[in-house]
Amino acid sequence: MTAALSKYFDAVVLGRRNLTERIIELEIGAADGSPLPMAEAGSHIELRFGPAGGPFHRQYSVVGRLGLDGGPEPFRRIAVQREDRSRGSAYIHSNFRIGTLLRISRPIGSFRLSRNLPHVLLIAAGIGITPILPMLRSLIIRGQSFSMLYIGAEKAAMAYADDVLALGGDAVRLHETSRTGRPDLDDVLASQPPGTHVYICGPGPMIDSVRAIAEARHWHPARIRYEVFNAAHRPEDNGFRVRLRSGRFIEVGAGTTILDALETAGVDTLSDCRRGECGLCLTDVLNAREGIDHRDSYLTTTERTAADQLTICCSRAHGTHIDLDID
Ligand code: FES
Repeated sequence: MTAALSKYFDAVVLGRRNLTERIIELEIGAADGSPLPMAEAGSHIELRFGPAGGPFHRQYSVVGRLGLDGGPEPFRRIAVQREDRSRGSAYIHSNFRIGTLLRISRPIGSFRLSRNLPHVLLIAAGIGITPILPMLRSLIIRGQSFSMLYIGAEKAAMAYADDVLALGGDAVRLHETSRTGRPDLDDVLASQPPGTHVYICGPGPMIDSVRAIAEARHWHPARIRYEVFNAAHRPEDNGFRVRLRSGRFIEVGAGTTILDALETAGVDTLSDCRRGECGLCLTDVLNAREGIDHRDSYLTTTERTAADQLTICCSRAHGTHIDLDID
């Protein structure tokens, strides 16, 4: 039986190596050695791990093979960046070793690369390279026209930089912000051939900026496909309290999300992407005295302004309290 037949299955860490000062790569296989289901470029897996009573659920992009040769790998290759305010990534960096047991999901394909596009522009920023690298490989294998911009502070901090250059050659531009500042994204979009589709993964503000530039240039929104990296955590985050309908209070620490805190407290929740994209965790707000810090890409501006619901996987309360319509 392949591990494909159940949604989550037991897994084990088979390999670990440092990619940069803050990013490690893990190879994770099925604990019983059974073959893994195919993972398309851009797909994720969810990892379930952590100490008893505080399990973490985190999604990571499947990086896949780093070169063009060979078939599917007998493990999932993922890269995890240590985020100072994310307890999940800190736990992985501190505790994951060869032999560590966890549970993983079969691949989840929400960020898909379409076929038969006239030209594809790939943009990756920082750890956002993880879904973009397998897209680069797929485009090369399919013989599709593409170009790529990979943005980071400096090459030494950019995971897989040499692999990306070896794969993409002249079609790839590495942009080191420590040397040349921020890239001119308007110029990047302006220089693309007609009909270009963009696939972008990076921090929310950069994606917002690309979307705004594309809109100003009258590109159809469907031509911009994106995935926000680490929507839930920012260095300046503070803890706050959630009051449930029952009157019960749940503490949400600076390095965690409402969703994680509720799950740890045994509260029933719904979630899927855990990145503010699918809307499944959307929850009604009864009272947000000091406002809501919306970090999703699901709600419209009008819906955000109404301040009566939020995505608990990534959005937070401004101030110290928020009352939610949840038991
Ligand atoms: S789980 Fe998808 S938006 Fe929160």
